[in-house]
Amino acid sequence: NIIGIAAHEALDSRGNPTVEVEVHVEGGARGLALVPSGASTGRHEALERRDGDLKRYLGKGVLGAVSAVNNELRDALLGLGADQQALIDQTMIDLDGTQYKSRLGANAMLGVSLAVAHAAAASRRLPLWQHLGGVQAQVLPVPMINIINGGAHADNPLDFQEFMILPVGADSFAEAIRMGAEVFHTLRGALLAAGHSVNVGDEGGFAPVLRTAPEALDFIMAAIEQTGLRPGADIALALDPAASEFHTDQGYRYQGEGLLRSAGQQVEYLAELARAYPIVSIEDGMAEDDHTGWQTLGTRLGKSCQLVGDDVFCTNPDLFEAGIAQDIANAILVKVNQIGTVSETLRVLRMARGASYGVVMSHRSGETEDTSIADLAVAANCGMIKTGSLSRADRTAKYNRLLRIERELGSAAVYAGHNALRHSQQ
Ligand code: PGA
Ligand code: ZN
Repeated sequence: NIIGIAAHEALDSRGNPTVEVEVHVEGGARGLALVPSGASTGRHEALERRDGDLKRYLGKGVLGAVSAVNNELRDALLGLGADQQALIDQTMIDLDGTQYKSRLGANAMLGVSLAVAHAAAASRRLPLWQHLGGVQAQVLPVPMINIINGGAHADNPLDFQEFMILPVGADSFAEAIRMGAEVFHTLRGALLAAGHSVNVGDEGGFAPVLRTAPEALDFIMAAIEQTGLRPGADIALALDPAASEFHTDQGYRYQGEGLLRSAGQQVEYLAELARAYPIVSIEDGMAEDDHTGWQTLGTRLGKSCQLVGDDVFCTNPDLFEAGIAQDIANAILVKVNQIGTVSETLRVLRMARGASYGVVMSHRSGETEDTSIADLAVAANCGMIKTGSLSRADRTAKYNRLLRIERELGSAAVYAGHNALRHSQQ
């Protein structure tokens, strides 16, 4: 049973305060969790509660969320069994009483929810992936490695937020990381040789001053070939345009090119890119409110390309259910802090399975050393994980955790590889 819960302020990878929660259970086991934070957030995400007191952390303090954990949540949860994740999460949801967890704060609730899961795993002396996933958990996800950053994650003119490489041709997760790292370093050399900056953005990818997606993709293609790998067969490509960020009432506004694309032109542009490059996955190709655009994209590309909904679903069971009914996307991005509890995250994962949607477990652009999502990805056999580039410890911590899990699984480990994308390529 839970005998102690304590929260504190800590820092995320952008130097902003975030919530850290520690949960103690009888017998001495302990769980610790840190909450991530997004920059290009969806409109319907659970609320990240911040103090707004401009005298502390420029208004970004989280003392209110910390205090919610140390008082109301602590009082409600002390004495409950840490292995009763569903009960604990439901108790918090009921206590909060709002649709978007805005009273207590989703950052408060997620910190507790994750720390409880860690404490339960520790008291069973199991790694988190095994505690949550049981004996079926054995799939190591394809890492979607974000090697060029743009949009809200960098100060270059690239409108698209993420350019990712997927080492689908590897035969293990460790080999996938090796391939990815080789491409990452080759790309660095090529950017330098062309006179570009190799400083990195929020997710550890390069942030060169490039203006268009093809310019970025050409650099990546050349780096893959120079590494001696086969584009498509060994390394596939993926995009997260994060289109809600540059969608306006007039259409999709591209600053880099200085032009406006209608929803129809946006779909054709993405289709053109998917034809010209080995792109197997496009996330948020359309804006969160452009449901008609999403449907057009699905008709045009849904049979040949994974279309991942991030902002349009916000890891929210209700939005996801409506989206499935409207045939929006064929895969979902899962971010624990968009919804705020482990149980609701697991529910969304089950829904995705039921609807034959692909699943990408995901970090946020503001991260910490917490590696819970690596375990969650394996627990739910997600097949894909998006957790940034191969630099910055907040990103590599998740990859290193997955390398460890692969060793823990030993001969039972299965690397998802090309199979991860099969559902979207009939
Ligand atoms: P965010 O970006 O964490 O800044 O929202 C990640 C994403 O859009 O996938
Ligand atoms: Zn996204």
